[in-house]
Parts: sequence; C-alpha cells; structure tokens
Amino acid sequence: KLRVLSGMQPSGQPTLGNYIGALKNYVKLQHTHDCYFMVVDMHAVTVPQDPAALKEQTESVTALYLAAGLDPNVATVFLQSTVHEHAELGWLMTTLTNMGELERMTQFKDKSAGKDSVGAGLFTYPSLMVADILLYNADLVPVGDDQKQHLELTRDLAQRFNSRFGDTFTIPEPYIPKVGARIMSLDDASKKMSKSSSNAGSYIAMLDAPDVIRKKISRAVTDSGREVKFDPQHKPEVSNLISIYAECSDKSIAEIEAQYEGQGYGPFKKDLAEAVVATLEPIQIRYNEIRQSGELYEVLKQGKERAAVQADAMLKQVKEKMGFIIL
Ligand code: TYM
Repeated sequence: KLRVLSGMQPSGQPTLGNYIGALKNYVKLQHTHDCYFMVVDMHAVTVPQDPAALKEQTESVTALYLAAGLDPNVATVFLQSTVHEHAELGWLMTTLTNMGELERMTQFKDKSAGKDSVGAGLFTYPSLMVADILLYNADLVPVGDDQKQHLELTRDLAQRFNSRFGDTFTIPEPYIPKVGARIMSLDDASKKMSKSSSNAGSYIAMLDAPDVIRKKISRAVTDSGREVKFDPQHKPEVSNLISIYAECSDKSIAEIEAQYEGQGYGPFKKDLAEAVVATLEPIQIRYNEIRQSGELYEVLKQGKERAAVQADAMLKQVKEKMGFIIL
C-alpha cells in the first residue's frame, strides 16, 4: 500500500475550503492507502496563539477529522507535537534548507506582509513541513493548491539528502484535486477562502449553522450577468460557486450548467446552499457527538503510539547517515 500523510493547522475554524481541498480526500484515501493524518499544532504556533484557544482548536480539528469520516482504526490520527521526532527532524531539515528557498515561499510572503515583527518560526515553517512528510516516507500528500510550493521544497530536500547522505527518503508526490483545490473567498474571488480572514462572510466554516451557511451563500458576490457558466477567467465568482456545488453534490460541472441554463443566479444559489448544508450538517451532528463522548484523547494516544514507531525508526536512520552517534 502506498503511504499517505497530511495535516491541518489548528488555527481558526476549518473552512469549506479545507474540507473540499483536503479533508474530503483524506477520507477517500484511507481505505486504499496506509494513512497518517495529523493536526499540526507545532505549525500553528508560528503565529501567536492563546493557550486555551490552541487547546480548544486542536480538539476541534481532531473531532472534525473523525466527524468527516476518518476512522482511527484504519488511519493513524495524531497530534504533531506528541511525536517529538517532528521537531528534531525539522531542525535537521532546517540545516539543509537555503535562505533563498524559504524567501521564495509565497505563504511566508503573504503571512509576513505588512507586519512589523515576524517570528522566525514563520520563516522556517516549510522545513518543519518537509520533516513531517519525510519522517513517514510518504508517497502521496493530499493538499490544496496553496501547498504545492511546500511540496516542491519537500521533494528538493528529499533529493538533496539522498544525494548527500545516501538513499533514504521516498520522493513524495502531491495529491491535488482537479476541482476544488483552490476554493475562493465568497466576497472576493481573487483570494482563497481562508479561516484567517477578518470577514466571516468571506468563508463558510465547517461548523457554521445551516442558516448561517444559507445567508453567506445568498450574499456571495457574483457578477452582473445571469449565466451559470464555468469560466474561471471571465466569471471567477460564479465558477467558484459551481466548483463548490460540484464538490458538495454528485453533479458534474456540465450538469450544473445545464440545470440552471436561462434561470439566473437565484435558483442556483438556493440549491447550492442546500447542497452545502447537506454536506456539512451530518458532519456537525457527528462532531457534537464526538465532542461529548470524551473519546478524543484515547484516539490521539493510540495515534501517537503508532506514529512514533515509524518516526523513531526513520529519525535514527537519518541521524546515523548524517554522522550522529546513536547510543
Ligand atoms: P492549512 O492548515 O492551511 O490547510 C489545510 C489543508 O487545506 C487546504 N486548503 C484549501 N484547499 C482548497 N481551497 C482552499 N481555500 C483551501 N484552504 C486551505 C490546504 O491546502 C491544506 O491541504 N502547511 C499546511 C499544513 C501542513 C501539512 C504538513 C500539510 C503542515 N505539515 C504536511 C501536508 C503535509 C497548512 O498550512 O495547511
């Protein structure tokens, strides 16, 4: 079985973009692949986090993983910070990364733009992500489009390590969906939908109540036309909504276009809202059950133990190859 690894930050409320671009694929891959899915809490602290909020959000993302359908008896579900090898290999990867490579990262440029003070962790973040992936010799990494550049860096560093110290790491491939890899904001189709946006109307949170979802979609920006047509270049707003519709239903883009031909945006948006509600509401119901059941910490302990076996063996190998003394 090919190995899959991915992760999500516990910073802010996960959005429909996180679900469509990533989580939905985690769930799909778990039955055919050897899967590791983590909550990357060590990445979240690259920007200041309130301790109580970090804990709450970490529990919340874990519960959303399970509510969306990850089965902890099939996939390994764990917290990054509980497997200390991530931090250790992260340091070793930092030493193999060039400043120029990190300076080119668009996520760093976006997150640091206009700030007076930028934490060093935000800059070295990609080296830790490289370690996350290489520590498990992952073959496939399901992510949204915005993580492509980090995946390229991972591939480069795996190759660099292998050629300097001998064949060690698998070169991972990104797994990026054709539709839905980049869900855009509801108020501005030039920006990706993001949980860190200051305008809550710009994103749908996975835990938004059905009526909130309906309201947000009815207010979503479209254009002055009335054609429901997938044309990202000329109709970016409508095309984004069509992508969301296709991902939240079993309809193809062509079927959606045909269904609303000549009807304008009203009926389209109404049905779209119901498709999103039908996707998220069952997840929300399971989410509440899971939060109440108190099972999370048990799941995470079991995941930690399984992940640590892999991580420990891999890190030893890496350290040995680099010339560290293993006692
Ligand atoms: P994060 O937490 O920002 O996002 C989690 C996943 O959701 C995807 N995503 C989107 N997909 C489609 N449309 C959107 N608007 C959208 N917004 C987010 C992201 O691409 C991602 O797949 N650096 C990573 C976390 C990470 C990681 C890893 C991922 C750390 N180590 C190892 C994979 C493997 C991040 O910040 O994701």
